[in-house]
Amino acid sequence: MPHAAHRDWWRESVVYQVYMPSFADADGDGMGDLRGITDRLAHVADLGADAVWLTPFYRSPLADGGYDVADYRQVDPRHGTLDDFRALLARARELGLRTIVDIVPNHCSEQHPWFVEALASPPGSAARDRFIFRDGTGPDGAEPPADWQSKFGGPAWSRVPDGQWYMHIFAAEQPDLNWENPEVVAEFEAILRFWLDLGVDGFRIDVAHGLRKDLDPPLRNTYGGDSASLNSPPSGENHPFWDRDEVHEVYRRWRKITDSYAPPRIMVAEAGVSAGRLPLYTRPDELHQAFNFFHLRCPWDAGSFREVIDTSLAGAAAHGTLPTWVLSNHDVVRHRTRYAVPEGTALRGWLMTDGREPAPDDDRGRRRARAAALLTLALPGTTYLYQGEELGLPEVADLPREALRDPMWERTGRTVKGRDGCRVPLPWTRTGSSYGFGPGGSWLPQPGGWGDYSVEAQTGDPDSFLEMYRTALTLRRRFLGDETFTWLESAPGELAFRKGRVAADGRAAALECRINLSGEPIPLPVPDESQLLLTSAELTQDQATARQLPPDTAVWLTSTIS
Ligand code: GLC
Repeated sequence: MPHAAHRDWWRESVVYQVYMPSFADADGDGMGDLRGITDRLAHVADLGADAVWLTPFYRSPLADGGYDVADYRQVDPRHGTLDDFRALLARARELGLRTIVDIVPNHCSEQHPWFVEALASPPGSAARDRFIFRDGTGPDGAEPPADWQSKFGGPAWSRVPDGQWYMHIFAAEQPDLNWENPEVVAEFEAILRFWLDLGVDGFRIDVAHGLRKDLDPPLRNTYGGDSASLNSPPSGENHPFWDRDEVHEVYRRWRKITDSYAPPRIMVAEAGVSAGRLPLYTRPDELHQAFNFFHLRCPWDAGSFREVIDTSLAGAAAHGTLPTWVLSNHDVVRHRTRYAVPEGTALRGWLMTDGREPAPDDDRGRRRARAAALLTLALPGTTYLYQGEELGLPEVADLPREALRDPMWERTGRTVKGRDGCRVPLPWTRTGSSYGFGPGGSWLPQPGGWGDYSVEAQTGDPDSFLEMYRTALTLRRRFLGDETFTWLESAPGELAFRKGRVAADGRAAALECRINLSGEPIPLPVPDESQLLLTSAELTQDQATARQLPPDTAVWLTSTIS
């Protein structure tokens, strides 16, 4: 059976994330569209991925890259039409790819008809109850109802002309929905069915841990307890709006819906919660997967990676599932650049505009990004790749200030640059208009030399990121099915593990991965040359001509040791 036809294909697969505005633009308006994706989808199939996840393409004012949806059943004209989406689905199927779409249930756009109606309706009305409207505090209610902070900076409350306030965890253009309101619950179930009936294979659930809030009066302040960056857990327990137990009711209902389709469709949570609570989202009657941001945030250190891997495997195993592995997405500094700057500066400080950004050591970033890819792709479970990581794209850290579009930029009073640097449109060709992104320009400026990273420039170059990813994804398929994971003996600063077991007939059926996270070369015992499958950088030899694994390098071997 081809891998993609397997019923539980999602347990061990590679899902390629398409950031809608920046993948490919067919109509030349500078903004990515569905036709552009369809035209370029063969790249994803050639890479060896099993599925694509598309970030939102729904009708939207694009105040937050489409995560502000004005109509959940329509395609934004800048991204195309519903027929374009049908054509994309058909093309994906032809190529053996599954299609996962993004669902944004925590909030909608201020231009959604429900919010327009809410603004036109009086306090206490049914229209307002679909959102979280409250009177303010302080004299004349001029202070927000609680101290809740927006993830994008500033208060999570905005005031409307009649004096009430509405809540928004993100930008003011993204009012939070009230998930205690049965109409909201019913509407999203209908939206899920709409896309399932069209033939999608699954959903990525935006801000899955935020839907339910503790709205009992008086609202509780958080005293800074919501200040963690996107994708990381809030501090404290019983938080008024993050990771509340009640949110699981929603997913139990959704699971019944996705299971009612044949074959069952899948769901993956974006949930910035603690390692202890993340597995709750993947209980057998809830979601299939949750993004593993611990892996993404892991410092470059053998002990830390080992701990993240152990915790992730154990957490997933508790509910009979496998973890996911993520190194990058459209919300974080690209990992090539994260690994190129001093530890700890990339996820927070690097995004600031205080003039103290450390100069990246690009050689180190390149080596580590390649090694991390091999580490990640060897682990049991599903890897989510972010478009462009297969090209080794760095963060574009020096975008002109006037080009920045992330709402974080304005909401932080222009002190945090935000996420545009990882969203610069992809280079497909060495030269030409927007390096093959489309026949026109690109909504974010591409830096000079961007074409050197292009698919065209890298294809056929054995030392390129692209060819390493292609080889890795092809090899990986040989080792699917056996989810056994074993740590192997390793040197200090090295990680070594095996996925799968060596078959009884001596046939090598296991994949061994070794990665050197120390600053020194480590001897690499490879009795037989034919065991060597892939390396992220050239191996070295010491004087006695023993092979060595240089620092920041990973290797794949077929394991014959039992
Ligand atoms: C998620 C998305 C992010 C978006 C936010 C609000 O974290 O990944 O891009 O800004 O939700 O919808």
